[in-house]
Amino acid sequence: MEFQTRCVHVGVDKDSAYLSATTPIYPTSTFRWDDLETNRGFDYTRSGNPTRQALEENIASLEGGIDCWATSTGMSAITAAAYLFESGDHIIAGKDIYGGTYRLFADILARQHLEFSFVDMLDLDAIRAAVRPETKGIWIETPSNPLLFVTDIAAVCEIAKEAGAITIADNTFCSPYLQRPMEHGVDVVMHSTTKYLNGHSDVVGGCLVTRHEEHAERIAYIVNALGLACSPFDAWLVLRGIKTLGPRMEAHQRAASAVAEMLQEHPGVTRVYYPGLDSHPGHQLASRQQDGFGAMLSFEVSGGREMAKRVMTRTRLFQLAESLGGVESLISYPETMSHASMDEPARRAAGITDGILRVSCGIEHPDDLCQDMSQALEE
Ligand SMILES: Cc1ncc(COP(=O)(O)O)c(C=O)c1O
Repeated sequence: MEFQTRCVHVGVDKDSAYLSATTPIYPTSTFRWDDLETNRGFDYTRSGNPTRQALEENIASLEGGIDCWATSTGMSAITAAAYLFESGDHIIAGKDIYGGTYRLFADILARQHLEFSFVDMLDLDAIRAAVRPETKGIWIETPSNPLLFVTDIAAVCEIAKEAGAITIADNTFCSPYLQRPMEHGVDVVMHSTTKYLNGHSDVVGGCLVTRHEEHAERIAYIVNALGLACSPFDAWLVLRGIKTLGPRMEAHQRAASAVAEMLQEHPGVTRVYYPGLDSHPGHQLASRQQDGFGAMLSFEVSGGREMAKRVMTRTRLFQLAESLGGVESLISYPETMSHASMDEPARRAAGITDGILRVSCGIEHPDDLCQDMSQALEE
């Protein structure tokens, strides 16, 4: 089946009693056993639930993996992935990753004896130079947050293979519609399903997809042992959202490309970060590695924080809010929002200045979005 058909159908058919067209929600904590040895495949919702399983089968298929675990948030998926490592292991990650991931790595997991190096993922020599005998993992987030720099996934997987490390890719920004990291050699894919997969800003969730049996078994164990799985209600909402992933992503991209081009011509804007623009350093690589350029973009206004504040409080359609990937457009300020959990030196090292605004383009008409943004930028 083609991708969009799998979005609609894979995993969905779980109602053998009434043949409902959509997956029922099983809001139960526990399941009856037939006798002391036999149950119908589920015993307790922390360990497994039919609604959640429907979502997991669906996402595993979209990413090309063998298995998936749907978690309560993107952060709980990252936490579960981190438990694949052991005390003393060293992990390489980009220096411009999502602020919450950075905080988990640099502040929480570093205290629990995992070691991290944050490097420029565009510089393959820097990644090679960061490899140590204890390096067991490379964390890839591409395009990166918030400047949309594009990492060469296949090249990083090659470095990881030579080092005997695994690769984990946060595929939140592209969704599997635009990028499937496993096709480039990645071992584990992670999502904040809060974003494009759900797509309607009404759920927080996450997932991990694996393609090796050993990781599949270990992650199932970790998610159950730590109690990280998502609720049946949330799983149902995400599964419903995924059915329209393809058409939504097309509409998101149309809007983003129009807004990026408009911003690029605007005299009050010093730089636009959107991989779809020829001027973006990751444009060529994104053209090869992705099936589209996505709908996230950042731009820098001349006039720093004051001007950024002016723009963000004057947009009407772009709502001033964190998050991304929903049908409604959002605008945010990485400095005090998504990347506030990085300290200032880490933000500056990641290229985040006080004039940078991040935009998640929704599926509104591109003309309305461009009009809204240009009126907000007026002197
Ligand atoms: C790229 C990326 N990864 C992970 C996360 C964390 O996901 P959640 O907020 O669902 O825990 C986010 C949240 O914004 C994100 O943007």
